[in-house]
Amino acid sequence: MSISRIALAYSGGLDTSVAIKWLSERYGSKVITVTVDVGQGEDFKAIGEKALRVGAEHHYTIDAKEEFVRGFIFPSIKANGLYQGKYPISTALSRPLIAKKLIEVAHKEGCDAVAHGCTGKGNDQLRIEISCRALDPTMKILAPTREWGMSRDQEVEYAMKHGIPISKAAKKYSIDQNLWGRSIESGPLENPWTAPEEDGWEWTKAPELAPDTPRNVELRFSNGVPVAIDGEECQPLDLIRKLNKIAGEHGVGRIDHMEDRIVGIKSRETYECPAAVTVLEAHKDLEKLVLNRHELSFKRMVDEQWTYLVYAGLWEDPLREELDAFIDKANERVEGRVRVRLYKGSLAITGRESPNSVYDFKTATYDSSSTFDQTLSKGFVELWGLPTVVSRKLVSRR
Ligand code: ARG
Repeated sequence: MSISRIALAYSGGLDTSVAIKWLSERYGSKVITVTVDVGQGEDFKAIGEKALRVGAEHHYTIDAKEEFVRGFIFPSIKANGLYQGKYPISTALSRPLIAKKLIEVAHKEGCDAVAHGCTGKGNDQLRIEISCRALDPTMKILAPTREWGMSRDQEVEYAMKHGIPISKAAKKYSIDQNLWGRSIESGPLENPWTAPEEDGWEWTKAPELAPDTPRNVELRFSNGVPVAIDGEECQPLDLIRKLNKIAGEHGVGRIDHMEDRIVGIKSRETYECPAAVTVLEAHKDLEKLVLNRHELSFKRMVDEQWTYLVYAGLWEDPLREELDAFIDKANERVEGRVRVRLYKGSLAITGRESPNSVYDFKTATYDSSSTFDQTLSKGFVELWGLPTVVSRKLVSRR
C-alpha cells in the first residue's frame, strides 16, 4: 500500500507516540498528529511538542469542547444515555467527534490515510473507524497498534531505541477521560472481585471522607438540558465542570460494573462521572413529571436503542438521527427544576417542579378537595381485570 501522508489521532501516550515513528518507518510517509480537546484537561502544549519531537510533520490541537457538549453530551442527556443501565457512554460519545476532526484535518492536509491507536479488543476502534468511513469512504484507515504485533515490553524497547519519552511509572491503569467522565481500566481491576483501589479515582472523594453535611443542588432544565445550577444560569461547559466538582467532592459518580463490549468481550469497567450521574438522574426524574406513561414507556425503548447505537460505534447511522427527532420532540416539555441531595457517595432526588407538569394535585390527593371520582373505579377494575380473570378460569380448568 503506498501512502504518503497520514493524519494520526494523537493522545500523547506511549501507543500513539510509538505510532508516529512506526507509521513513518512502515510506510515511508509523513505523519500529521491531531489531538482533540474534549475536556480531558491535559497539557496540550506539551502533547503537541512531544508529537513534533517524536517526528510528526505538523501537529493540530483542536478545541472541540463546546461542540462536544452541545452536539454529543446534550443529545445523550435527552436520551438518558446509560449503557447497560450504568455507564454514561462518556468515552463512546467522544469518538465520533474525534473521527470527524481527524477526517477534517486529513482533507485539509491532503492525506491519503488516517490512523488511530485503538487496540483490537475494545469498542473504540469501531467508533473511530466506522465514523471515519461513513464520513469519507475513500479514506484509508490504519490501526498500527492492531498490526504491529509488539508486546508492551517490545513497545517500550522500540520507544527507547527511537528516543521516544516514556513516562517513568509504568501506568497501573488505562485511563480515558473527557468532560462527561473518566474511565479507569485494566491492572488490578481485571479481577472482578477485587475492589477498586483508592489510587484509581481522581475526580471523586472517597464517600467516607466526603463532607458530613449533605449538599442540595438545584438543577434547572430547559428543552431537556441543564441550563442553571443553584438558580444561576450557566454556560453548558461551566455547568458540567462545576457539577463534576460538586458531586465529586461528595463522592458521587463512582461506577463499577460488568460490561459487554461489542467485540464480544465481557469486561469489568470502572468509571467516575459525577456530573453525568447527577444530570442523568435529575433528567430522568423530570421526564417522569412531564411525560405521560405511554410516552415514558415508549421513550425507554428509544433511549435504550439510541444508547446502544452510540456505544456500538454507529453514531453516523441515520437511525440515530431519526431517534433524535423523537427524543428532541419529547424533550420540548422537559422544563423545570430538580433538587438533588448529595451526601457521602449517595444521590437522592428530593424535589421536582415544572410548568409542564402533568401531576394534578386535585386528582392525586387523599384529602377532601379531591376531584377524583372513586365510584368510577369499580367498573374500571372489573374491565381492566377482565382478560386476566377469563383466561385464568380456562387455564385452571386444564
Ligand atoms: N468500556 C468503555 C467504552 O467502551 C471505556 C473505554 C475506554 N477507552 C480507552 N481507550 N481506555 O466506552
